[in-house]
Amino acid sequence: MTQENGGPRWGVVGTGGIAHSFLEGLRAVPSARVVAVGSRTAERSEEFGAAWDIPHRHADYAALAGDPDVDVVYVATPHPWHHPVTLLMLGAGKHVLVEKPMAMNALQVTEMVAAARANDRFLMEALWTRYLPVHEVARGLVADGAIGELTAVSADFGINVPYDPDHRLFNADLGGGALLDLGIYPLALASQYLGELTVVGATRRLSPDHMVDVHTTMLVRGENGVSATLDCSSRTSLPGRAVLAGTGGRIEIERFWAATDLVLHRDGREPERFHRPFRANGYEYEAEEVARRLAVGERESPRMPWSESVRLAGVMDRIRDMGSLVYSRPTVKAVPLG
Ligand SMILES: NC(=O)c1ccc[n+]([C@@H]2O[C@H](COP(=O)([O-])OP(=O)(O)OC[C@H]3O[C@@H](n4cnc5c(N)ncnc54)[C@H](OP(=O)(O)O)[C@@H]3O)[C@@H](O)[C@H]2O)c1
Repeated sequence: MTQENGGPRWGVVGTGGIAHSFLEGLRAVPSARVVAVGSRTAERSEEFGAAWDIPHRHADYAALAGDPDVDVVYVATPHPWHHPVTLLMLGAGKHVLVEKPMAMNALQVTEMVAAARANDRFLMEALWTRYLPVHEVARGLVADGAIGELTAVSADFGINVPYDPDHRLFNADLGGGALLDLGIYPLALASQYLGELTVVGATRRLSPDHMVDVHTTMLVRGENGVSATLDCSSRTSLPGRAVLAGTGGRIEIERFWAATDLVLHRDGREPERFHRPFRANGYEYEAEEVARRLAVGERESPRMPWSESVRLAGVMDRIRDMGSLVYSRPTVKAVPLG
């Protein structure tokens, strides 16, 4: 079920901002070919298909699921549709790369993993930061003891988006909230170095309609005893810096979620910069990971295994449950579970 040159044939669901970015990255993967797009409307499907020279332009998602020329589907809808669209695609025998967060809550993620297992299909959360070359360097430095023993992590991701109750970042029915959209990045970074996370505390600021969080501050503790202080915001521009600190120094990563550089500060030594530029825009690395795993018949990625997606969703569930975040209730209701 692959094209002549061995790479998977991609289908794309949703024609919004990230779908365009992903296709730009995918273009830098020599073996990849995008054969189909699925949109809720024929117009957007045509427009997107024409922009990216995609031959099959479907006017609904189910038609893409039934397209026999598609091997793997990239799901780029707002979060509440990750779960139903992924189930639809897995049920139709497609492999799936689904945007972050994998779903609205841990229950949905668990159901998606069960469907991947039942249908013997590949499934991966598109947490693209995990695959960036400079993060490979960071993991290696920490593992080699370049900063001594890891003792603390801090990270933030905050952007200032003008408040608009209809924007998917602020609209609960579209899966709004800073935590699910942006907080997942610092949490995923911490989880990578700390293992299973216990939520020690969390505090938040809500949107004017009190439906979603616009800022969440989190304190988590890893199974290795290391703690992390993490922040996310949709109404405040934060530095975007991650710091991995240890007994012998620290690693600083600016704009860590999209980083090409890190600086290693070893105590008593000159700082060392590591630069790992992208070949395209950074999304090529997660696409390559999908192709790599499919080529050898694997169903999940060791860099972002199913258990990690379930764990992260569970951590975000707990953070939302802390305090009185009313938004989780209407949002969960708004999510089609079937
Ligand atoms: N990895 C990253 O760097 C990154 C960056 C941004 C966003 N994301 C993730 O990608 C997902 C989509 O984000 P986005 O910024 O691309 O959103 P967007 O620009 O609003 O686009 C989402 C697309 O999903 C489809 N869709 C299906 N149901 C919809 C509904 N009820 N309302 C609106 N659109 C609907 C639409 O395509 P059709 O009308 O053609 O069906 C729409 O164009 C989110 O889960 C987000 O977390 C990831």
